[in-house]
Amino acid sequence: MSAMILLAFACVQPDPHPDTQETAAPQETDLEGDTGSPTPPPLFANPKEAEDLDPREEVVRIQLTAAPYTYEADGKTVEGWAYNQQVPGPTIRVPRGARLEVELNNQLENPTTIHWHGVHVPWDMDGVVWMSEPIGSDSEFTYAFDLPQPAGTFWYHPHYDTQRQVDLGLYGTLLLEDSSEPQTDHELIVVLDSYEEFGSDDPDGIHHGLEGTEIEWTVNGLKNPVFQAAAGDTIRLRLLNASNTGYAHLNIPGAIKIAGDQGLLPEPVALDNVLLAPGDRSDVLVVVTDNLEVLAEPYSHNGGEAFGAAQAVLQIESTESSATTVEPETLNWPFTKQPATPDTGETDIQWTLTGDPRTGSWEINGETFPDVTIPELLFGEVAILEVRNMSATEHPFHLHGHAFEVLSINGQSTEWAVIEDTINIPIRGIARLRLIADNPGDWMAHCHILSHPHGGMMTVLRVNEP
Ligand code: C2O
Ligand code: CU
Repeated sequence: MSAMILLAFACVQPDPHPDTQETAAPQETDLEGDTGSPTPPPLFANPKEAEDLDPREEVVRIQLTAAPYTYEADGKTVEGWAYNQQVPGPTIRVPRGARLEVELNNQLENPTTIHWHGVHVPWDMDGVVWMSEPIGSDSEFTYAFDLPQPAGTFWYHPHYDTQRQVDLGLYGTLLLEDSSEPQTDHELIVVLDSYEEFGSDDPDGIHHGLEGTEIEWTVNGLKNPVFQAAAGDTIRLRLLNASNTGYAHLNIPGAIKIAGDQGLLPEPVALDNVLLAPGDRSDVLVVVTDNLEVLAEPYSHNGGEAFGAAQAVLQIESTESSATTVEPETLNWPFTKQPATPDTGETDIQWTLTGDPRTGSWEINGETFPDVTIPELLFGEVAILEVRNMSATEHPFHLHGHAFEVLSINGQSTEWAVIEDTINIPIRGIARLRLIADNPGDWMAHCHILSHPHGGMMTVLRVNEP
């Protein structure tokens, strides 16, 4: 690896090691297949951004075309699907409080939808096919909604034939921005996916199905790309795990976590390890001091010991070797500390997750979607949800249309309120979640290991009209 990094350096500055001249061998050598020249690592690139077609500041209007797309990822040729011929799809940036309008043109041979994961959209904009039709082939639909909720890193993906369509490449980030958050020197949008989760249950699928811990991670489709920055620069990493199955257990030396699913945390947290279950987001800050390597460490969501070697996921190279600052400045970030809500111990809704990877049948309260009992909440009601995991594997539990406060996981609570929309439930674990039912509609609640809702682990929560 170090030789490869050196080569990348050699392009931008004098070769510090004149004795490695063979890296500058003439091109014919490469063409003849000589082994002398290692391929330089790919350079990190943010996904291309969506163009805002509305001149007004308070409206962002973009066009997305979903269509078949053949692309290279992790050295493989993927016969996939994409938004606007790119995977990840276009990054959508919206100022907090603005209105987003997305014209979706479906040029796939199949129906599709877009779900706005983590965004509190009106029910008819949620992109689910519960009591409504998907967008047919060669049809258009405009999603439009306001975004008054707190800023954060969100994402979008289909919610029809979900595991297959997400797997083929239909996903992108939606960044809701708040001008009170300081600008950092660099902002990296890090969308993690794996092209090794080859499916056996769907001949058209690319890479889903396996539940192993040996996942080959890519960042924006690139294997272990390199980002170069000056020593002392601060980088904001917006992390999204868009994979169907894989848990990304990242080691980011010196990282300060500033945001989770629903924007800024109550306070910054210094932590080198960030766990992203499928569907999860996290924002972290790092200061470039020396070269920094982001690793994915082995993780087992099936319990027991995790085996395998740590895997290099992203390289951040310092273009100078000394920086005096080692910690990012977090004083100017508008963190808000709300004391955690005390748990009264009452439970309004209890959902128990069961299932078995050997049968592929996954249930909530013994029911498989769409044959489910629907609990109802009054508009404005405060409800405590208790999600119990009685299966032998972890599940990232996600609820549409609302965020929830995590009261506790396995009895452990926090001092300050933590707000999420996707939460990993440990094996035999219990999460207690508090939500304010302020968004009328029928909201999906499901596991985000996408083969699990496909196998039935999805239910509905009804919030009545005011
Ligand atoms: Cu990201 Cu119902 O999903
Ligand atoms: Cu699951």
